Formats: sequence, C-alpha cells, structure tokens
Amino acid sequence: MTSFSTRIIRWQQHHGRHTLPWQSVVDDTSASIQARPTSCAQPTRDPYRIWLSEVMLQQTQVATVIPYYERFVARFPDLPTLAAAHEDDVLALWSGLGYYSRARNLLAAARVIAEKHEGKFPAAADAIALLPGVGRSTAAAIAALAFGQRGAILDGNVKRVLARHGGIAGWSGEKKVEAALWQLAESHLPRTAIEVYTQGMMDLGALVCTRSRPACPTCPVNTDCAARNQHRTAELPTPRPKKSLPEKQVLMLLLLDRGELMLEKRPPRGVWGGLWSLPELAPDADPAAFCREHFGCTPLAQQALPGFSHSFTHFKLHIQPIQLQLKPRRDTLAGQRWLHPADALDAALPVPVRKLITLLDLDRS
Ligand code: ADE
Repeated sequence: MTSFSTRIIRWQQHHGRHTLPWQSVVDDTSASIQARPTSCAQPTRDPYRIWLSEVMLQQTQVATVIPYYERFVARFPDLPTLAAAHEDDVLALWSGLGYYSRARNLLAAARVIAEKHEGKFPAAADAIALLPGVGRSTAAAIAALAFGQRGAILDGNVKRVLARHGGIAGWSGEKKVEAALWQLAESHLPRTAIEVYTQGMMDLGALVCTRSRPACPTCPVNTDCAARNQHRTAELPTPRPKKSLPEKQVLMLLLLDRGELMLEKRPPRGVWGGLWSLPELAPDADPAAFCREHFGCTPLAQQALPGFSHSFTHFKLHIQPIQLQLKPRRDTLAGQRWLHPADALDAALPVPVRKLITLLDLDRS
C-alpha cells in the first residue's frame, strides 16, 4: 500500500487548500507577495505571515481568522512594524478573536526577534519554539510551511486524524496519550514535501476528518483507518472528561454621561488582560453607592439590561448589565476613558462588552 504520507500529499495537491491569504510566496527579486501557484508548494513563504496566521489559527477556525488576518497585515505588514507597535493597537485588531494572551505574546515575540535575532525570523523549529506564545506544534508548522523544515505537528485537527487512523483511545490532555500521538505523528513524516504534507494533515482534519460526520468515503487514508474499520469514528478521539465549570456572577456597569460611556483598562495579566472593559461589581453591590464613591454623584437613572453568560475555558461568567445615567461627572481617573459608544467600538474590547455596547439604547444616554 502507498505510504500514509504519500496519500496525504497527493490528496493535498488535488483537494487541499491553496488560496488561503497567508499561502503566498515571497518574490525576493521584487520583494512583493504573489498568489502561490496551486500545483507546487515552495517553502519560500513569508515567515512573518505564516507565524501570524498560525497564532491566529490556534483555537480559532480559518473562516473566523481570515478577516482579522487581513486587517492585521494591512496595519502591520512586517516584523519591524509590529515590533514598534503599541500594545493597545495590537489588541484593538485582535478584539473579538479571544485568547488575548496570543496578541500580547505576538508583540513580545516580535520584539524578541527585533532584539535577539537582528529582525530576521528564526528558521529552526527549536528557535521558533522559544518565542513567546509558540509551542512545539506551532513552531514545527511554521518551520515546515515557511522554511520546508521536516518536523511533526500536532494541533487539534491533526490529533483527530491520528487518533482515528491509529485507533488511539484516551483524552489527548493525558501525557501518555499525547506522547503516543506525537510518536505516531513522527512516524508518518515524509522525507520530502513536508510543507504539502503538513498543510494536508491540517486540511484533512478540517475538511474531511471532521469531529462529527467525517466524510470517510473521500478520505485518502480510509483503507487502513482503525476508527473507520472498527466503526469507532464517533467515539474517537476520546473527548476531554466532562467536569462542570465554576460559575461567577458580576454586575457590569454601563456608565453614561453626556452621551459618553466609561471604559476601564484591565490589568495587564489575567482575563481580558490589557483590554478596555466596564467596571465590574459583586452581584450584591449597590451601583448607586459605587457612583457616589467614584464620581461624587447619585445616578439620575438606573436600568437593568437583560443578563447573559460568557464561557471561558475555565469558568462561566454570568453578567448582569446595569445602565446608569450620571450627573456631569468629576475628572476622569487614570486607566479610564470616556468615549462615545460608536468610538468605543474601535477599542480593544472583550467580546461581551462589545456586544453590550452594540446593544446600547443610545436615545437614553
Ligand atoms: N490550522 C492551523 N494552521 C492552519 C493552516 N496553515 N491552514 C489551515 N488551517 C490551519
């Protein structure tokens, strides 16, 4: 039988993705970026763009990433531009993509490359893996796609393909299972065309070997797939054991004064680190007392808006928004901004805050 990798490579060439915005080749002679020919995949792509796309694609689907990617490269077209950026501007372009530590790490890594690598993107997977926000799989993907370097990747899509094909049971968060998947990933690596193979594994996971209802009849490695042959595609890969998430309740204050809304910058680390958010109070706190204490005035009006929930990986947040109309306020404090809601939407906002501002009934403000 033809080897696993040969079948993946052939399938990628005919059925894989070739027109993603980061799949362009760098033309060294004119320093311009061109659409990549569909028949070949040369390892001459812009590592900056590959790196950016791989970081954006961590935990996020291609269709969601594309508009963010396009806006990001339009504003920060290369490493020096990104390394010189303000964190606020980088976070603003990330706003809505979630997992904001990725954006902070991206900026930190750009500065590391500027200072420690003379502005040149490192080509070796080991060196790439030392950059903030880049793990073993992302480093190998960048090294393969941008530099043609041979190495195994193991992102969510590839884990699914390998767990099914190799019949590997157990949740991949367990060390033993993860080690078995890495070993299998290494064992399948081709000698050549690593960039096509790497893209092929990602594409197969995303387009054919999907979580529910995989398209097994069209899969290039279906004949020797353990899960298919044993009718176990529904049970492999083994999902993360279910445990109920802790829940937290907060009041979120939409403080309005003369048509402007108050935003507060979150501390640099932790949930929504560095983003512009709304003041949060304990569920039993008194928002009017908060206004008296912080702004020296009793609100003219107070209205509870419909509550909703937001899930993080580690907990679920129940948000009760309260809209408050202030009397003319006293001075703005450090770390606060008063903005018209339409302008606030340009800031780096957490997803639920963006949603609330979009829903604000401006006639009342
Ligand atoms: N997911 C992660 N990296 C990807 C890539 N380069 N193409 C498509 N999907 C991906």
